[in-house]
Amino acid sequence: METLAILVAAGRGERMGAEKPKAFLDLAGRPLLVRTALAFEASTSVDGIVAVVPAGLEEPARGLLAGLRKVVAVVAGGARRQDSVLAGLRCAPEGFTGVVLVHDAARPFVSLELIEGVVAAAREHGAALPVLPMVDTVKRIRANRVVKTLDRSELAAAQTPQGFRRDVLARAYEVAFREGLTLTDEATAVERLGGQVVAVAGAENNRKLTTPLDWAWAEVLLARQEGQR
Ligand code: CTP
Ligand code: MG
Repeated sequence: METLAILVAAGRGERMGAEKPKAFLDLAGRPLLVRTALAFEASTSVDGIVAVVPAGLEEPARGLLAGLRKVVAVVAGGARRQDSVLAGLRCAPEGFTGVVLVHDAARPFVSLELIEGVVAAAREHGAALPVLPMVDTVKRIRANRVVKTLDRSELAAAQTPQGFRRDVLARAYEVAFREGLTLTDEATAVERLGGQVVAVAGAENNRKLTTPLDWAWAEVLLARQEGQR
């Protein structure tokens, strides 16, 4: 195995406000988790998939993913994103030295090109992530006052999949956990150690489905894709 994709789906989906975690909701007739997993199943750059789901939902998730050949494990995640990622990392085969991808199950429209680009950059540089330019002007605010307008040309929004050589991520995580850091993405752990993280071009379609409005956008996009077939 050369590349292992960890799909993190163990969040509660609070901002989506549905009756169950969003990965298990049907998006135009197919569970979000399955849609995202199929993207990695179809990628020739990916050999194995680990799904990390809320504790207690492992069995339903296994049922949903039963038809996917590359799924090697379905495990319970934890309270924080990094706990879920760690649970996934622990499923890597003994002695695995390839690339680990960490991807939000909430980003079902990740393209094969993007996966391939991140894997290649991670293999070469140790750590890589897709980014998008900021569309809005970004300001630093304190107590309802603008402190500063940041230089937008220097800023980018981080997406997933984030890719790492396994040793790079394992070491960065070890330090981050030991120091009690809370991470909002995986690359942060590598950055903290002074490690190089390469940015590749992200994609607008690779949006994270966070709110009901994102969900509606996804349904429109799928309906349009369906209509074009
Ligand atoms: N995630 C996870 N484990 C956590 C928290 C998040 O595996 N403890 C996953 C989510 O399932 C999601 C991805 O990380 O696929 C991105 O997180 P987010 O969009 O914030 O999803 P949720 O945490 O589920 O949503 P919310 O924050 O609105 O509750
Ligand atoms: Mg969350």
